[in-house]
Amino acid sequence: MVFVPTMGALHHGHAELIHKARKLAGSKGSVIVSLFVNPTQFGPKEDFSAYPRPWRNDRAVCLAAGADGVFMPSADEMYFGNRSVTVEESALATVLCGRSRPGHFSGVCTIVAKLFLLVQPTHAIFGEKDWQQLAIIRRMVRDLNFPISVLGHPTVREPDGLAASSRNTYLSTEERARAPLFYAALQSAASKRSPTSVVACAKRLLAKIPDARWDYIEAVDEESLQPLKNRSVAGRLVAALFLGNTRLIDNVSLQKMP
Ligand code: PAJ
Repeated sequence: MVFVPTMGALHHGHAELIHKARKLAGSKGSVIVSLFVNPTQFGPKEDFSAYPRPWRNDRAVCLAAGADGVFMPSADEMYFGNRSVTVEESALATVLCGRSRPGHFSGVCTIVAKLFLLVQPTHAIFGEKDWQQLAIIRRMVRDLNFPISVLGHPTVREPDGLAASSRNTYLSTEERARAPLFYAALQSAASKRSPTSVVACAKRLLAKIPDARWDYIEAVDEESLQPLKNRSVAGRLVAALFLGNTRLIDNVSLQKMP
């Protein structure tokens, strides 16, 4: 059984993950998608209440993309009032988004572990757009011996390059028009020779976007998420950018340079 965990507000990026799940499961296997806006991964000042919840449409998207079942638990079903057990990853979760969103990855690991135990899939698919999340889930599955293969799916983008995201709907018309400059900056920075010049170039380009402020921009090892020392190994340029009040994340590959 192939599982695609989501928080709903589904877009064509999520639909691609479900298509991939369908292909992998074949006609004999099944595909389950979960729709659950997980309260424990949102900080007190974050957008938990504002997060879009178009459940009826989401259900239709899941079924049209090839899901056999949709799991939509309520918060009361998932969390007991006196809960006291959480799943913490302690190395990868403290950097990048973990630094600016304390507790976020503990919420993610806890809910994903619970969903894995309830759904009991053989395979689970996660998007590379959330590179750090994917690395943390892989680590959790390895360290806690979940009998599940985790597969990544490349970032699905809008025609202008902006990574598809449920949060893109928060952008004003002006912000939406500037948003593709984020990916364009990361892409052109990726051609620089050293990790330091990659990051410096990305910062220089992002500073030119009006009303934009970066949260972090780092060149890291793909798996350990530690700073990349040189380009003799493959890495990832990962970044979070505020456009107005909306926080966008994106990343591009830093291919090994001879
Ligand atoms: P959500 O943001 O809804 O994303 C669900 C899955 O879709 C994640 O694996 C995410 O990486 C993937 N995804 C989202 N946008 C994508 C894009 N443009 N291209 C490729 N994949 C994309 O991530 C979460 O929910 C939650 O943290 C969750 C894992 C469900 C735990 O609550």
